[in-house]
Amino acid sequence: MAAGGRAPEPRVLVCLGALLAGWVAVGLEAVVIGEVHENVTLHCGNISGPRGLVTWYRNDSEPVFLLSSNASLPSAEPRFSLVNASSLHIEALSLQDEGNYTCREILNVTRWFQEWLQVANPPPSAPQCRAQMASGLFMLQLTCRWAGGYPDPNFLWIEEPGGVIVGKSKLGVEMLNKSQLSDGKKFKCAASHVVGPEAGASCVVQIRSPSVLSEPMKTCFVGGNVTLTCQVSGAYPPAKILWLRNLTQPEVVIQPSSRHLITQDGQNSTLTIHNCSQDLDEGYYVCRADNPVGVREVDIWLSVKEPLNIGGIVGTIVSLLLLGLVIISGLMLYHSPVLCWKVGNTFRGQNMDDVMVLVDSEEEEEEEEEDAAVEEEEGAQEREEFPKEIPKQNHIHRVTALVNGNIEQMGNGFQDLQDDSSEEQSDIVQQEDRPV
Ligand SMILES: *[C@@H]1O[C@H](CO)[C@@H](O)[C@H](O)[C@H]1NC(C)=O
Ligand SMILES: *[C@@H]1O[C@H](CO)[C@@H](O)[C@H](O)[C@H]1NC(C)=O
Ligand SMILES: *[C@@H]1O[C@H](CO)[C@@H](O)[C@H](O)[C@H]1NC(C)=O
Ligand SMILES: *[C@@H]1O[C@H](CO)[C@@H](O)[C@H](O)[C@H]1NC(C)=O
Ligand SMILES: *[C@@H]1O[C@H](CO)[C@@H](O)[C@H](O)[C@H]1NC(C)=O
Ligand SMILES: *[C@@H]1O[C@H](CO)[C@@H](O)[C@H](O)[C@H]1NC(C)=O
Ligand SMILES: *[C@@H]1O[C@H](CO)[C@@H](O)[C@H](O)[C@H]1NC(C)=O
Ligand SMILES: *[C@@H]1O[C@H](CO)[C@@H](O)[C@H](O)[C@H]1NC(C)=O
Ligand SMILES: *[C@@H]1O[C@H](CO)[C@@H](O)[C@H](O)[C@H]1NC(C)=O
Ligand SMILES: *[C@@H]1O[C@H](CO)[C@@H](O)[C@H](O)[C@H]1NC(C)=O
Ligand SMILES: *[C@@H]1O[C@H](CO)[C@@H](O)[C@H](O)[C@H]1NC(C)=O
Repeated sequence: MAAGGRAPEPRVLVCLGALLAGWVAVGLEAVVIGEVHENVTLHCGNISGPRGLVTWYRNDSEPVFLLSSNASLPSAEPRFSLVNASSLHIEALSLQDEGNYTCREILNVTRWFQEWLQVANPPPSAPQCRAQMASGLFMLQLTCRWAGGYPDPNFLWIEEPGGVIVGKSKLGVEMLNKSQLSDGKKFKCAASHVVGPEAGASCVVQIRSPSVLSEPMKTCFVGGNVTLTCQVSGAYPPAKILWLRNLTQPEVVIQPSSRHLITQDGQNSTLTIHNCSQDLDEGYYVCRADNPVGVREVDIWLSVKEPLNIGGIVGTIVSLLLLGLVIISGLMLYHSPVLCWKVGNTFRGQNMDDVMVLVDSEEEEEEEEEDAAVEEEEGAQEREEFPKEIPKQNHIHRVTALVNGNIEQMGNGFQDLQDDSSEEQSDIVQQEDRPV
């Protein structure tokens, strides 16, 4: 925009601009705000009517001649020209043109006029809004930046909706205490610059309390390590994440140590506990996310267990299986083929108890396992009786097939043991046992 080049109405904001921007003209000095790359016109006083001989100077440490209405004196630079025989017109302003200018007018008396030229440029980009924690967690600091402009812009923070003014400043920083905050509230920064867009520019922040996500339980083996994770989302400003130990009231904040490693990546935090011990580490852990808008926490139960001896368990199971196999093989050798066939069928049905019952009734063997089996006898018999009451004619063909299959497999007791027959198959076999 041309300050003075577009006569007759120059867009130079004399005094008015200074007042808008909060500057005060010193003494009788007029303040003129021009814009980088634009033209500007400085007037030699506010005088109408005939003008005398006018000379313009630049006031640095000492006055430097610029231009005179005496045409025989050349101007210092072609950028400078005289308008209406008195005003100084400067083309294509640069920041170096900023400064104080003096004009001298000789009529029947000599008069001096001062002009303070300020060269402004609007910020090239949009303003940036930010909210952050301040004074611990008790205050919220709103910051508005609109960089790259000259002179400094003015900022106005407004609550939205409602339009309540939070504050007005050249810094763009406002402090809010917790009582002024609520989840989802918006704050708008309206920025204005002396040569910026008339409507100004703005940005908005929305404050949000945090949400916390974590696993409800974790297990650690004695002497092992465990990592608890905590994911915070939605918080603005970003939340402060703390790990606490819910041992007693009040809770204890866990400090990083050789046993407790705390890491944070963005809004995700992890707590790693090394060398778990039941006495020290089992219990509730709390992950707490805090910002001035709100606080959320989640409990995690950590149980510390003795490590499982998997080798021992597998060994025990294998030993038991082998022992059972030996007993069954022994029985098969001693009894009639019919019994063997029955036993085979029963195995097919995966009903160990039945085998033991049969044996128990025929030969009073005194082994411990059998005693245990006898105790379960009643239950087993009840299960046997149930299918008997529901004759299923349509199963006969399948039963026959199974019986045939069993005869083929009779010599292979181990295979039968491993056969994980379904419940349905088990019922069929038991049903068939009776008529035979
Ligand atoms: C500045 O003034 C010159 C003449 O004095 C004119 O040619 C030019 O267009 C003006 N520039 C602007 C940006 O108004
Ligand atoms: C020059 O004088 C005319 C008439 O007095 C006025 O309308 C115009 O605004 C003046 N130009 C400048 C640049 O002051
Ligand atoms: C110039 O002077 C007249 C009267 O003396 C006054 O009304 C006007 O506001 C002045 N203009 C400026 C820009 O100071
Ligand atoms: C500018 O220069 C003139 C002439 O030397 C002097 O009278 C005036 O006080 C100076 N003004 C400033 C602000 O330095
Ligand atoms: C204009 O400048 C010339 C050269 O310096 C000088 O001789 C002449 O007297 C000046 N005119 C006036 C009216 O001051
Ligand atoms: C212009 O003069 C005023 C005092 O009249 C002074 O405060 C200001 O700093 C000067 N501006 C420059 C750029 O020197
Ligand atoms: C300057 O001269 C004019 C006539 O040329 C006169 O009207 C005016 O009052 C004089 N000014 C002063 C300050 O003497
Ligand atoms: C928080 O702000 C409210 C209202 O602005 C004020 O009444 C209160 O005293 C402030 N509290 C603190 C601790 O600054
Ligand atoms: C537990 O962590 C420590 C340190 O990082 C490591 O030396 C150790 O091997 C880990 N123990 C287990 C069981 O992973
Ligand atoms: C500790 O955890 C228990 C179980 O979640 C909970 O009831 C209790 O409020 C917690 N204590 C504190 C101080 O948060
Ligand atoms: C693990 O903790 C036990 C006591 O709980 C301690 O005796 C042992 O030295 C610790 N081991 C390591 C590697 O820190």
